[in-house]
Amino acid sequence: MRSWLNGVALLGAALTMTASGAQAATIAISCGAVGLELQLCQEGAKAWAEATGNQVNVISTPNSATERLALYQQILAANSADIDVFQIDVIWPGILGSHFIDLAEHIDQETIDQHFEAIVENNTIDDALVAMPWFTDAGVLYYRTDLLEKYGKEPPTTWQELTEIAREIQEGERADGNDRMLGFVFQAKAYEGLTCDALEWIDSFGGGQIVAEDGSITINNEKAAAALELAASWVGEIAPEGVLNYAEEESRGVFQSGNAVFMRNWPYAWALGNAPDSPIAGKIGVGQLPKGGEDGKHTGVLGGWQLAVSKYSENAELAVDLVRHLTSPEEQKRRAIKGAYNPTIAALYQDEEILEATPFFGELYETFTNAVARPSRVTGEKYNQVSSEFFNAVHAVLSGKSDAPSSLEALEGKLDRVSRGGRW
Ligand code: GLC
Repeated sequence: MRSWLNGVALLGAALTMTASGAQAATIAISCGAVGLELQLCQEGAKAWAEATGNQVNVISTPNSATERLALYQQILAANSADIDVFQIDVIWPGILGSHFIDLAEHIDQETIDQHFEAIVENNTIDDALVAMPWFTDAGVLYYRTDLLEKYGKEPPTTWQELTEIAREIQEGERADGNDRMLGFVFQAKAYEGLTCDALEWIDSFGGGQIVAEDGSITINNEKAAAALELAASWVGEIAPEGVLNYAEEESRGVFQSGNAVFMRNWPYAWALGNAPDSPIAGKIGVGQLPKGGEDGKHTGVLGGWQLAVSKYSENAELAVDLVRHLTSPEEQKRRAIKGAYNPTIAALYQDEEILEATPFFGELYETFTNAVARPSRVTGEKYNQVSSEFFNAVHAVLSGKSDAPSSLEALEGKLDRVSRGGRW
């Protein structure tokens, strides 16, 4: 197991006793490394380590949520005490919850109640709060304000409009000498991120959420097929063929280097795109994702990350204290300003310094609080199978291996078997 734990940074004072005279311990926390995640996690953990006289090992994990889950499952299945605090995805409480302690027994109710109720509920499995909300996410549309202005365009309200504007600007810019210009970049690699993007396309067309809240499998419908057909038409046209292998950071790389008009991504891309060394600093707009036609709706998938304490931790009390610190309003504010990670505490959306750093946190408040959930609660432990079947079916359509209606029909059959007839 130790071989997984490379890239470890030992933070904090090398003490054996804490200031209060208690035995100092080393707490290991797994963090993501997308955008500024790792740096912010290390800074936050270091502050806690220094304040308490303990040490923290920050363990960097794969960027892909799909790969990270596989790693966590391996560590937890071995009942390993190697990681005390796990950064877990909003879709994992049902899959991993049985390995975590009930934080409601350690953290006072008032502190828990500061966080969005829907996320606390999401993280509650069989009456146990298996993880504390850390940051929330919703898919948003990034655009180049300078390019839209140059071509006399408004941000698109429908995907069809986005397609046309992207094509026009891509062609215009290429004719003007930037032959690398692309209309639209997003996440179309076969992994959890594609589940998010594709669910947004489908939901925006009114095609449902793959599996409805009552457990019925709804994915095989005409609106979902129309959404996927439109998305497939982008590949090799306004998006590069390579998008079929893009995750968040690949999309951000292209957009941030100045070579894309539009990008679908999570809020974190804002801070990096506006950093002093970014070629597009000050030229970025952020808005809701477009509707699937005039009768469609604006939507954004709910993402976000939580902190959970392992049942196998040998220092659970200290691990909880680290979680308490990292999820606190002060730390969430620091992360919002520095990295555009959305707080899970409603009050922080009124904070002037946060709104100055990331104005769209205020403008898109409704998008963040009404984001559409992936069907992880109803499918429970089977969510990962559902998502894998879904992103593979979508990937087949985007790469031209299958047409949308046949792919969705086959997917329906697979999900029917996975759920034993929708009983989950
Ligand atoms: C973001 C979201 C997370 C999602 C992942 C997919 O990290 O916060 O919920 O699963 O992207 O790539």
